[in-house]
Amino acid sequence: MVKMRVLVTGAGGLLGSAVASLASEKHEVFAAFNKHFPSCGRPVKLDLLDGEGTAAVVAKVRPDAIVHSAALTDVDRCEGDRDLAERVNHDATKALSESAKRAGAFFLYVSTDYVFDGARGMYREEDQANPINLYGLTKLRGEQAVEASGTEFCIARGSVIYGAHPAAGKVNYALWLLENLRRGEHVRVLRDQHVSPTLNLSFARMILEALERRQTGIFHMAGASRVSRYDFAVALADAFGLDSSLVEPVNMDEMRWVAKRPRDSSLDVSKAASLLSEKPLLLPDALLELKHALTGGNES
Ligand SMILES: NC(=O)c1ccc[n+]([C@@H]2O[C@H](COP(=O)([O-])OP(=O)(O)OC[C@H]3O[C@@H](n4cnc5c(N)ncnc54)[C@H](OP(=O)(O)O)[C@@H]3O)[C@@H](O)[C@H]2O)c1
Repeated sequence: MVKMRVLVTGAGGLLGSAVASLASEKHEVFAAFNKHFPSCGRPVKLDLLDGEGTAAVVAKVRPDAIVHSAALTDVDRCEGDRDLAERVNHDATKALSESAKRAGAFFLYVSTDYVFDGARGMYREEDQANPINLYGLTKLRGEQAVEASGTEFCIARGSVIYGAHPAAGKVNYALWLLENLRRGEHVRVLRDQHVSPTLNLSFARMILEALERRQTGIFHMAGASRVSRYDFAVALADAFGLDSSLVEPVNMDEMRWVAKRPRDSSLDVSKAASLLSEKPLLLPDALLELKHALTGGNES
């Protein structure tokens, strides 16, 4: 294995931190952050709103590969601030992928199930994207910018990412559920929104393999189980020995969201399962790994 210089954006975020940590085992990692300092790799300050600064960072780091995980991920905030969403999710991705082209770097863009409208579910890579909110639209425009940049690229789509640690100043869906259930508090979760929950560690492994093996094109690298958010919460409660009767089902039409959400944005992961050695995980296996990561292997 050739040791690479890997630039990871959003390296203090939920997925980026897992990628930076895993990649650091074999490669020289440059961990780009804006507000949240990364815990792995050589920290590099990078504000994606500064196009010239972004190009300068790439020229200075001279990466062999870039994993672009940073994004404006708050779906309602994107809807309320179209300009910011466009600048972070599209303009910065365009600038970064064009810089990658100049540097001769492989470019892996992390994208989302929200590029789909959710009318059908179990989407394959070649299915028509049709975002129904500005987060999905700006991420799709990011994908299109990467494809147009002329650099060698991989687009890796995930869905509802979760992990063992808070990141970028936020808890994720699984940690939010665990915190509430452990306190004996009721949680209201959607029974009619279906997704493919993705453990950040598993996603990071597939991303690293794609980098090392220069896998090009679009890949769905989500978890291998399509579940409702309610099913996910009950499975999590059961896996951690918590009271699943605290999980209360609610419907999407009861939510007061700013942005619309896809009803079923689950992803078909058979391409990743057949082409990668690191396979997408079924939910029970992913929850076991989450438990292991949370307890440091000390669970009884
Ligand atoms: N979370 C999900 O459920 C989900 C599902 C599907 C796909 N995705 C995609 O997966 C990727 C990672 O998501 P995540 O949940 O790990 O993200 P996250 O934890 O919300 O972190 C977002 C990261 O983006 C960085 N960022 C935002 N604005 C920036 C700016 N102006 N300049 C530099 N960095 C900036 C943040 O850096 P600082 O904190 O340092 O400011 C942070 O590290 C994203 O591309 C997202 O679209 C996420």
